Amino acid sequence: MPQRKILVTSALPYANGPIHLGHLMEYIQTDIWVRFQKARGQQCTYVCADDAHGTAIMLKAEQLGITSEELIGQVNTEHQRDFADFLIAFDNYYSTHSDENRELAAYIYKACKLKGHIASRNITQAFDPEKELFLADRFIKGTCPNCKSEDQYGDNCEVCGATYSPTDLIDPKSAISGATPITKESTHFFFKLPDFQEFLEEWTRSGTLQPQVANKLAEWLEAGLQEWDISRDAPYFGFEIPNEPGKYFYVWLDAPIGYLASFKNLCDKSDELDFDEYWNKDSKAEVYHFIGKDIVNFHALFWPALLSCADFRTPSAVYAHGFVTVDGKKMSKSRGTFIMARTYLDHLNPEYLRYYFAAKLTSHVDDLDLNLHDFAAKVNADLVGKLVNIASRCAGFVKKSGGNLSAEVSEPELLAQFAEKSDAIAEAYEHREFSKAIRDIMHLADIANQYIADKEPWQLAKQAGNEQQVLDICSNGINMFYILMTYLSPVLPDMARKTEEFLNTKLDWSQVPQPLVKHAINKFKPMISRIDPKQIEAMVQDSKPKTAEPSKAKPKAKPKPETPTEIEYDDFAKVDLRIAKIVNAEHVEGADKLLRLTLDIGGQQRQVFAGIKSAYQPEQLIGRLTLTVANLKPRKMKFGMSEGMVLAAGPGGKDIWLLQPDEGAQPGMRVM
Ligand code: 2FM
Ligand code: ZN
Repeated sequence: MPQRKILVTSALPYANGPIHLGHLMEYIQTDIWVRFQKARGQQCTYVCADDAHGTAIMLKAEQLGITSEELIGQVNTEHQRDFADFLIAFDNYYSTHSDENRELAAYIYKACKLKGHIASRNITQAFDPEKELFLADRFIKGTCPNCKSEDQYGDNCEVCGATYSPTDLIDPKSAISGATPITKESTHFFFKLPDFQEFLEEWTRSGTLQPQVANKLAEWLEAGLQEWDISRDAPYFGFEIPNEPGKYFYVWLDAPIGYLASFKNLCDKSDELDFDEYWNKDSKAEVYHFIGKDIVNFHALFWPALLSCADFRTPSAVYAHGFVTVDGKKMSKSRGTFIMARTYLDHLNPEYLRYYFAAKLTSHVDDLDLNLHDFAAKVNADLVGKLVNIASRCAGFVKKSGGNLSAEVSEPELLAQFAEKSDAIAEAYEHREFSKAIRDIMHLADIANQYIADKEPWQLAKQAGNEQQVLDICSNGINMFYILMTYLSPVLPDMARKTEEFLNTKLDWSQVPQPLVKHAINKFKPMISRIDPKQIEAMVQDSKPKTAEPSKAKPKAKPKPETPTEIEYDDFAKVDLRIAKIVNAEHVEGADKLLRLTLDIGGQQRQVFAGIKSAYQPEQLIGRLTLTVANLKPRKMKFGMSEGMVLAAGPGGKDIWLLQPDEGAQPGMRVM
């Protein structure tokens, strides 16, 4: 099949504030799709930029005492850092305040004007007489004419939900200066959208939109289109309209043109990409815009109309998504669920969120709920409990037998079952049904775990003579992991990179049918650790508005009690010593001595960090009974909470013996 040429964009974030979780869903969705296309060998290019113009940015800069240019420069750096840390791999990240964008906006405007699609007329608007500025509805505040709530915006009331025009507000004030607005007339320029009624009726029904979006647009088209006001009066941070001094392009005119400008900027730096090849009227390349459902009108009406008017091709498709809710509710600052990208990164690994979003994203426009409890449970169960567990249970045995995988695959039909899923998984990614792709992949992970559990290589390894069999089983396990990580690489790029180091080979989707045989692998290091719910709690706390509290002096550290040489019986009686079953054991990323154990102490599970790594491989411990102090106060360790202690004896190093009760003991029994 010939290589497809694909250009992909995400909506351009405004350059006046930080990236938050609501934004991130879109960038993660787009990035996964782009990485998938690249993994399948397509020439896929992902561009974006900051949306740098408009009154809000101009006022924010003024507030900060800096120029608009300085503000957008600072924000651009922050945005790019946040995106990079969430592993969003743009091919180009630019700004709408660029020469390319200025030229392209002027070019498109002139083409529209030449063809008679620009009108001009006087309109009357609210005006701030102190700031000498025309006021958009959201910059006027006053008392709601319906419920009489004070301090409501000029277009709708947040208390009763009424919508109205700013002239209906009781006692309206400029939100900028507090002055009472006056009305004033000025000339505005309009893009004559109704001229494109027929073109848009056809375009919106030609498979470019999701059915739900196309239906919504059909309603608007039926109601008839309005001319679109594309100009703003000075002072305004943006591009001046050619030959119209004091008149500027409205930010939404040059924002989507920013997609073209960012791509043009990239083409000018690249030998492989040709701007015209992608944007000519009869281009064979594909162009996709990923956006939120709130900006469909700009992308599916104004944008295709502007493009066609200037003889550019129109997008192959526009993909809209819904909003992010947290724990079933709109993100909220007071609840601590309006979470900034940076706050998240201060507490959690970006791949957790990439995985969770992927596991829930579909091709539909529905909202996506980030349930924080479910988030931790799903990531821990799937990524740590299922996926990494496959590699961690097998790697040690391969290393012990010399580090090479078996020369032949002992169960080819098992691996064939994994390779056969390639097309179905690729299809799900292609159609943005990521949740289906993840379900299929995790079903395979279940099969892999079941296979290893049934074969019990750790039991076989206890008897001499089983070495080849153990190696065959574990080589199958490693090969299954190899395929799973290849399928997951668009979602988990960092884990994929660590897998490449571990497996000493590139993850290449086209190589999936070829298992690794007689292949040296490297030492296994855990690729991801569990989420401790305390990390989530800390992130939520950090996201709450900081109320100014009187500064509290740091409490003095308590003096340590001297270690008693003897204890009273009553002290001993306080120790709740119980039989525990180790139901899971795993390495702890970054820890030299610790293993993370999951203990069953009779219907209850506990996480315990034990300093026994020098003596035990995790897989040797799973299923064993031991003793634990069950009422030790949980301690916060560097890697998470430790909720107890297991008992072991010995001088240390290799010589540590985990205490083991006689047969017949059951998890949860108290030691007497
Ligand atoms: O809604 C927004 O956040 C806009 N800044 C999106 C612009 S997308 C494109 F058209 F530029
Ligand atoms: Zn109201």
